[in-house]
Amino acid sequence: MERFEKGINRKGTNCVKWDVPFVTEGVQPMWIADMDFEVAPAITENLKNITSQGAFGYQFLSENYYQSIINWMERRHRYKVAREEICYVPNVVLGLSFAVQAVSEPGDEIIIQTPVYGPFFRVVEDNQRVLVESKLKEENGYYTMDMEDFERKITPKTKAVILCNPHNPSGRVWTKEELEQLAEICMRHHLYIISDDIHCELVRAGQKHTFISSLSEEVRRRSIICTSPSKAFNLAGIHVANCFISDEELRGKFMEIAEKSHAAESNAFVEAALRGAYDESEEWLLALNDYLDQNIDYFVSYIEKEISGIKVRRPEGTYLVWADCRKLGIKEERVREFLLDTCKIAVNDGEFFGKEGRGFVRFNLACPLSQIKGALENLKKGIETL
Ligand SMILES: Cc1ncc(COP(=O)(O)O)c(C=O)c1O
Repeated sequence: MERFEKGINRKGTNCVKWDVPFVTEGVQPMWIADMDFEVAPAITENLKNITSQGAFGYQFLSENYYQSIINWMERRHRYKVAREEICYVPNVVLGLSFAVQAVSEPGDEIIIQTPVYGPFFRVVEDNQRVLVESKLKEENGYYTMDMEDFERKITPKTKAVILCNPHNPSGRVWTKEELEQLAEICMRHHLYIISDDIHCELVRAGQKHTFISSLSEEVRRRSIICTSPSKAFNLAGIHVANCFISDEELRGKFMEIAEKSHAAESNAFVEAALRGAYDESEEWLLALNDYLDQNIDYFVSYIEKEISGIKVRRPEGTYLVWADCRKLGIKEERVREFLLDTCKIAVNDGEFFGKEGRGFVRFNLACPLSQIKGALENLKKGIETL
C-alpha cells in the first residue's frame, strides 16, 4: 500500500492531468483517466533496458509480445486468444475508429449506450456514420441496459454497437446475463459488436468481467475486442493497445484500414512496457485494486455521510466515480466550474459523456488517499458556502 500512498509528482512533466492551465496551484486534478502512482518496477526496468540500447529506429513487435498477451489473457481472464487474432494499434480510440470503418460504410448507423465515454460519439461521427443513442436506464445511480429501447433503435442501416465494458462513466461491470441478452439481439439483427474493454483489469472486489466474445463462437466472429494494459498499468503515454478479431475476413479489412491510416506503427517502448506489465506485474495490479477499493470506499462513504447535494454509487469497475450533482442547487452547466473555482477540484463535466450527463461530473480516484481526503474537505467547505 505504501507505494500507492506515496504517489508520484507529475507536475512539470508535460502531464496532461497536472500541467493543463486550469490545474492551478492548490487544485486537485481528479479528471482525465490516468493514475498518480509510479508504474510497476518491472515496467520501468524494461524501459530502462530499451533506452540503454541507444537505438530508436523503426521497430517491429516480436513473437514474445504476442505470447505475453496470450498468456495474460489466459491467466488473468481465462480467455483464450489466438496469435493471429491480435492486432496492435497505438491506442484504443484509434482501434475503435478502425473497427467502425471495418464493419460499416458512410451513412450506416452505429448504436452507443449513453452516457458513455466521449470519443464513442466522435469515432462514429468523424467517420461519417450515423450516431444512434440508446439511453441506459438509471435507478438510484445504478445503470442497466435498456434492451427494448436498444432493439427498437435497430434499422436495416444499423451495422454495429460500441459497447463499453466495464462501463465508463457508470462503473458497471456488465454481467454475463446482460451481455448474453445484448449479444442475442445483436446476432438476431446481424450486428457487429465493437467492445471497448480497456478497464477490464480494474474490477472492484467481488466483481467479474466477461469478454462478450467469450459467449459463443458466433459472437466471437462478430466481435472486435479492444484491450490495452494502459489503464491498469498507467501506460497511456506509451501508446499500446490490442484489438482481438477472430474472423479472418473482418481482420483483413481492419488491418487494411489500419495500414491506410499510416498511423498504426508501434514504437521502441511498446513491447517492453506491455511485457513488463503482463509478464511481471500481476501482484502489483492486485495491490493496486486493493488500494483503489479503499479509495472508493472512503470517497463514497464520505459523500453519503457529509454531502447531501451529491449522489454517488460504488462503481463495480474502474477507478472513476460518477456523481449526480443535480440536487446541489447550482445550474447544471456551472457544476464543473464551481468545483474547480470554489472547491479546487478539477473533474470531468458530465456532458463529455453525452446529454444524459448534464448535471453530473466524474471523479478520478487513482491518487493517494491523502489527496482524496483533502479534496473531500475542500468539497464540503465549498458546498457549505452555497
Ligand atoms: C472506455 C475508454 N476507452 C478508451 C479510452 C482511451 O484509450 P486510449 O488512450 O488507448 O485511446 C479511455 C480513457 O479513459 C476509456 O475510458
